[in-house]
Amino acid sequence: MKKILTGLQPTGVITLGNYIGAIKQMVKYQDQYDSYLFVADLHAITIPQDKEQLSKNTRDLLALYLACGVDPKKNKIYIQSENEYHTNISWLLECNTYYGELSRMTQFKDKSRKNANFTTGLLTYPVLMAADILAYDVDYVPVGIDQKQHVELARDIAERFNKKYGETFKLPEALISSEGTKIMDLVTPDKKMSKSSESQKGVIRLLDDEKTIRKKIMGATTDSETVIKYDPENKPGISNLINIYISFTGKTIKEVEEEFAQKTYGEFKTKVADVVIEEISQIQKRYNEIINNNELDKILDEGREFTRKIAKKKYEDMKYKMGFRR
Ligand code: TYM
Repeated sequence: MKKILTGLQPTGVITLGNYIGAIKQMVKYQDQYDSYLFVADLHAITIPQDKEQLSKNTRDLLALYLACGVDPKKNKIYIQSENEYHTNISWLLECNTYYGELSRMTQFKDKSRKNANFTTGLLTYPVLMAADILAYDVDYVPVGIDQKQHVELARDIAERFNKKYGETFKLPEALISSEGTKIMDLVTPDKKMSKSSESQKGVIRLLDDEKTIRKKIMGATTDSETVIKYDPENKPGISNLINIYISFTGKTIKEVEEEFAQKTYGEFKTKVADVVIEEISQIQKRYNEIINNNELDKILDEGREFTRKIAKKKYEDMKYKMGFRR
């Protein structure tokens, strides 16, 4: 059975972009693939985090995974920092990765530009991500397009390691759904919808209440035309809403354009808000049941034990091949 794996950072309540780009895909494929889903808490500390908030966000995210329909019977669910082999593997990979490669990563360039006082963790972040993936011989990595470059780097590192030390890793591939490629900020649709966005108006969070979600969608930036047509270049706002709509309804772009051919932007936005609210309110209902339930701890304990065994084996194989022997 092929394997899929993904992780999300617990850096705040996840957005509609995270949900569509990563979680929805995990739910979609969980019957078909051997599935691994974790909380990337070690990645979160590449930028400063409040300790209390970090642990709360971690638990919230795990509860949201389940509330979104991730089935613990079909997925290994775990916390990255509870499996020390990820960081052990990461170091061995770091010594097979070039500074030039890491400094060329788009995300590193963006983030380091915003804050000149960045940590080396921000630079080596993609190597830890490569370790997360390569430890399990994963076939596919469901992510949004912003993470594609990192998955490709993981593949390059794996290929290099295999050549140098002998066949060790499977080469992973990013799995990107066409509609979930990149959900944009509702107010500034030329920017990605992001957890860390300063303005809250353009970002829908999975725990926003119904009224807030509706207000944000109704207030989305559009254009001065009246046509509901998919054209990301000239109509980024409307195209973004179409992307959101199709990921919630399973319709095609053509079907959506036909459905709203004679409708106003207001009518279209109302419909987008309806489908988003319907699905998110179900998620929130389940989230509230799960968050105080100690079943979550049992799932995490099992996930930790299972994944530690696999990652340990990979780490030992790497060490042996690299010459760490008595
Ligand atoms: P993170 O926490 O930034 O984002 C989690 C997932 O959400 C996707 N995403 C989006 N997709 C569509 N539209 C958007 N606006 C949008 N914003 C975010 C991201 O592409 C991602 O799939 N480095 C990763 C976490 C990670 C990881 C891994 C992922 C650590 N190790 C191993 C896969 C495999 C990250 O920071 O994701």
